[in-house]
Amino acid sequence: MAGDPPGSGSAPGDPIPLMAVGTAAAPHPPRPHYDAPYRLFLATSLTLALFGGFLLAILLPLAQTLGWDWGARWQALVQAHGQLQLLGFAGLFIAGMALRLMPRFSGRDLAFPSLVPALIPLIGGSVVLRALAQPWGTGALRDAGLALSAALLLAGALAFAAVVWATLLQRESRAEATAWYFSFGALAYVAQAALNAAIVVEMVRDDLALAPLAKDDVLIFVQLFGFVLLFLCGVATRAVPSLTGNSRPDAPSRAAATALAAGVALYAVAAAWAAYHAPSQATARAQDAALLLIAAAFVAVIWLSGAARPRANRVARASRTSFLFVRAAFLWLFVAAVLIFWYGVPALSDGRPLDAYATDAIRHTLTVGVVTMMIVGMGMLVIPEFAGRRIQHPGGEIAVLAMLLALNAAAALRIWPALEGLRWIAMTRFWPMAAAGAFAIAAVAAFALMFLQSYIEQRTPGWGSTDALRRGRSPRT
Ligand code: HEM
Repeated sequence: MAGDPPGSGSAPGDPIPLMAVGTAAAPHPPRPHYDAPYRLFLATSLTLALFGGFLLAILLPLAQTLGWDWGARWQALVQAHGQLQLLGFAGLFIAGMALRLMPRFSGRDLAFPSLVPALIPLIGGSVVLRALAQPWGTGALRDAGLALSAALLLAGALAFAAVVWATLLQRESRAEATAWYFSFGALAYVAQAALNAAIVVEMVRDDLALAPLAKDDVLIFVQLFGFVLLFLCGVATRAVPSLTGNSRPDAPSRAAATALAAGVALYAVAAAWAAYHAPSQATARAQDAALLLIAAAFVAVIWLSGAARPRANRVARASRTSFLFVRAAFLWLFVAAVLIFWYGVPALSDGRPLDAYATDAIRHTLTVGVVTMMIVGMGMLVIPEFAGRRIQHPGGEIAVLAMLLALNAAAALRIWPALEGLRWIAMTRFWPMAAAGAFAIAAVAAFALMFLQSYIEQRTPGWGSTDALRRGRSPRT
């Protein structure tokens, strides 16, 4: 179970541990367990989000509406925004939390702990280098930056996947279906790094300012649906049922993980074939069918989590506002599934892929409504700093509710112009997007500040203790 110390859980049927009596032998010192530096992952993720991805989310739409002449650099910065958000913000947050949670889920120590300190320099370094080299670099310097960035990402992906697989795919692991979500997700992470390397080789060889758009779409798809959403659905199906008073059925959850992974693989192969060879009705239909399979898997995940059919409210009173983010994320996941059916069924029957507006609407429903919402909500529920914070700052509810409102407004405003499609092509369509960026950055900044404040305060001894809870205030006062 989440929260169990690694290796300490006992399952029904385990032998009852016997205590030695008589002359006491010197007790074994407790075996030190390696804890991944989740705070560093969080801090890097939030820094890249606030000063990179979300900042660009405001500037890119403003550049269009206010007529700033960014030329071809605008599209390069769009690609930088996508990579900063998917691999920097969401990716490092997910990696940090996965490294922290895996020993608790599986009852096993984290494998290859010596690889963990390399992950932030490799992945974070890769994303920063890419965001600087592609839009701003020129000539050999740009090429070297892009090539180094791709190599760092590939090394980081292999190291991360090795840790995930070696921790979860052991016979004694108790990670159940979660191991399937995470292992498929790690496979997607390696696949996207390899595809990214191939794209970068092409950019350098042919001196391209942008990643070719069709190939970039495949890359983003594998990053978002394959890596980010598989991990997110793995955590959701693991942690949420116990909070909603539901059981955690293992076989159906494995089936949902497999359907999601199969949908991602089918889409990626068909879209890559279309991008590298020739698009056809067959590749388009395969992509549409894959999307419908993924939408069905989303509905299954919502059902398995129990978020839509709570039997009991097991969320502690002080955490109930934070849990509203998780509920909202499931609602947006349902909206994404509906949008996929809405756009995907006619596209399948016509034999064409989704257009750019539909893709953008689904993409940002997922990235803002589901991923950002879940990061903030789950973060407040499981990060230790926030547990102590609820004790020390019990009146913080209003701020948390304002963040919830801001993130929902951001998701709605971001997808509105995309839903309008060709009916709204004037530059005014970028105003709601800029407003969405402002709402989102405000919510994420508030989350980051709360984390930072709690991190500083928690150095006071007993700050998050049950004693402090009983007294309801800081141990110093
Ligand atoms: C409310 C916040 C956000 C705003 C205002 C925003 C804005 C934008 C804009 C204007 C584009 C370009 C669309 C076009 O080409 O016309 C874009 C693309 C994209 N965004 Fe966002 N975005 C936001 C949040 C996010 C988040 C949180 C993620 C991921 C976690 C994300 C991932 C992407 C990706 C992958 C692309 C496509 C990049 C490419 O074409 O290579 N966005 N976004």
